[in-house]
Amino acid sequence: MKFTSVNFKMPVTPFAVVAFALAGHVRGDAPALAQRPDLVFADFEGTNFGDWKVTGEAFGTAPTKGTLPNQMAVDGFMGGGFASSFHHGDDSQGELSSPPFKVERKYIQFLIGGGGYAGKTCVNLLCDGKVVRTATGPNTQPGGSEHLDWQAWEVGEFAGKNVVCKIVDDATGGWGHISVDQIIQSDRTIAGLILSGAGLPLRIKKHYLNLPVKNGATKRTLKLMVDGVNQREFQIELADAKPDWWTFLDVSMFKGQAAVLQADKLPEDSLGLKQIDQSDAIKDDQSIYHEALRPQFHFSSRRGWLNDPNGLVCYQGEYHLFYQHNPYGWDWGNMTWGHAVSSDLVHWQELPNALYPDQHGTMFSGSAVVDWNNTTGFQTGTEKPLVAMFTAAGKPFTQGLAFSNDRGRTWTKYKSNPVLAHIAAENRDPKMVWYAPENKWVMALYLDRSDYALFSSPDLKQWKKLSDVNLPGDSECPDFFELAVDGDTQNPRWVFYGATGNYLVGKFDGTTFTPETKPQRMQNGNAWYASQTYSDIPAADGRRILIPWGRNGDLHRGMPFNQMMGLPVELTLHQTDSGLRLMVNPVKELASLRQRTHTLKSQMLKPGENPLAEVKGQLLEVAVEIALGDAKEISLNLRGIPVVYDVQKQELTCRDRHAALKPAAGKIQLRMFVDRPAVDIFGNHGQLYMPMGMVVSPENKSLELSAKGGNAQIESLTVYELQSAWK
Ligand code: FRU
Repeated sequence: MKFTSVNFKMPVTPFAVVAFALAGHVRGDAPALAQRPDLVFADFEGTNFGDWKVTGEAFGTAPTKGTLPNQMAVDGFMGGGFASSFHHGDDSQGELSSPPFKVERKYIQFLIGGGGYAGKTCVNLLCDGKVVRTATGPNTQPGGSEHLDWQAWEVGEFAGKNVVCKIVDDATGGWGHISVDQIIQSDRTIAGLILSGAGLPLRIKKHYLNLPVKNGATKRTLKLMVDGVNQREFQIELADAKPDWWTFLDVSMFKGQAAVLQADKLPEDSLGLKQIDQSDAIKDDQSIYHEALRPQFHFSSRRGWLNDPNGLVCYQGEYHLFYQHNPYGWDWGNMTWGHAVSSDLVHWQELPNALYPDQHGTMFSGSAVVDWNNTTGFQTGTEKPLVAMFTAAGKPFTQGLAFSNDRGRTWTKYKSNPVLAHIAAENRDPKMVWYAPENKWVMALYLDRSDYALFSSPDLKQWKKLSDVNLPGDSECPDFFELAVDGDTQNPRWVFYGATGNYLVGKFDGTTFTPETKPQRMQNGNAWYASQTYSDIPAADGRRILIPWGRNGDLHRGMPFNQMMGLPVELTLHQTDSGLRLMVNPVKELASLRQRTHTLKSQMLKPGENPLAEVKGQLLEVAVEIALGDAKEISLNLRGIPVVYDVQKQELTCRDRHAALKPAAGKIQLRMFVDRPAVDIFGNHGQLYMPMGMVVSPENKSLELSAKGGNAQIESLTVYELQSAWK
């Protein structure tokens, strides 16, 4: 509840005693009897600032009576005066410093409005000369409002001590001013919110802090100060009471140190910080990977949100999968690089987060490479350095480096970041590749709209622009790599694609990419975005392996995690009747999930028959080859999900998605994977690629294959029951 009566006139003298009924009344609930009356320290009703010390010009020489020239209308202050630093406009600076006063109540609260710049447009509370609490106004962007609102500091720990209040305007330009009124000491907060409490003091002894999350709760900013240094800062829907789920903050790197976890604002009676516990275990970890909607062979994160795969790199037999991650919430935010590794692209082990937000911004998408020749000079031991390049999504967006000399286990940001300054709009998503003919690195970067550019560097640190690439209809997350046509390494081409999977095939001379095709679609599903291909797959393997984000709306609502990766697939390039085209097939390693096999003999498929009537299963791979005969339609029903081929239209449909599929010698071939929230469809050995996200009904275990309008011939049909990739 907000205090609205601006006409109420407070007693003028500092330390005036006001009946407690005021605070109780404005909160709209019954006053607790034991509370002491409020003490008004400053109400700025006089004709001068009294014993406050004034420096600079910004605050004028006396309390302000209302809106100043060239200012939006100010409201929310009490009585007829308040302290405003808008004298002479935004560019003036100054300070108001109170006489010392004794802390005698649990809270100090005040009305505040104006600029939202920490340390620049603020009120500070000083004890023994040190700033122990601070608050800013709400505004940093054009627009906004000059309204003053209540904020409160919890100050119980300073009881009996002398403190000083400083109102600071150290800012120029838009919102370079501050407004403050009615500084009072109370035992209850008026807005019910504590702006800055003592926080939760901790001696870090364990691996994790378990954090309670309530979906939809007001987002709070939590800060982990370790030995006085701000080490982690993030937004979280902190549960003030019973949480919906628990997430965790890894604090193992701070073991033995003294820390404080602070919240920006919390309801007075919040249990948010109080119920956080230190533990060597993630709370409720027994249920991880067993949750009802947990994908069983698509990667997902133990807790929180994920989007784009990042830094896909293979080193020492390990496939690294970094990813866009919100470790503290179910929705996008707090962009951090999560990390998992696998030796087979199927079974993943989650590792600690690799990159946390820093002073340059949150960690947006990027790539990673093995720096075999130590071009960066980052190598310290015998291991080759893994080097990641990411977008720091600050103001503005820039590109930075981080490296690891221990097989990706720990990461250090390069001290001279950023390595590529801001170029345009929200330029982002650098994807690096080694260009052997000229011994240099090449990087594709997204600029704006459908514009991308290529850059080169001898050492990943100094970059120069090579050329522009335009990819109509696409944006974000480029990938750029060489691929042999029909496996002929003497006849390679370069592929450039964007986040929706539109791709161009062409030639690259080390400077300019010259497309030979129009943009083509790589996929036709509803759960595919912002994919990336692996760097540094050993030459003996030689595959171009891609992992997409299996973007799937809010399918995972109610779960302590959200979103998944798509299945890893292999890209190959082929000369076809229509030109150079990619083909996409699931990686062969997925076969390791096969548990039980049902094989049907070659047989006729007549309307009304279902040769799969006896086969049941939950996690499935279905491979079928059918000669279409005179059938008009071939239908599969995979646990309630229809996959329908229209013979005349030569088109496959699943839900609202359609894709062309031309029969080869009168036959079509389909390979389909069924997971709890997904069905992945591949057709004619990679011509069709349709990754679909949907909840597959847990009760429905049935399968159906049928023909309509005529007879078809089943050439081969195998159903594999799959096991979960999670142990
Ligand atoms: C694509 C994207 C990228 C960006 C990242 C942020 O999904 O928008 O362009 O780097 O997600 O999470």
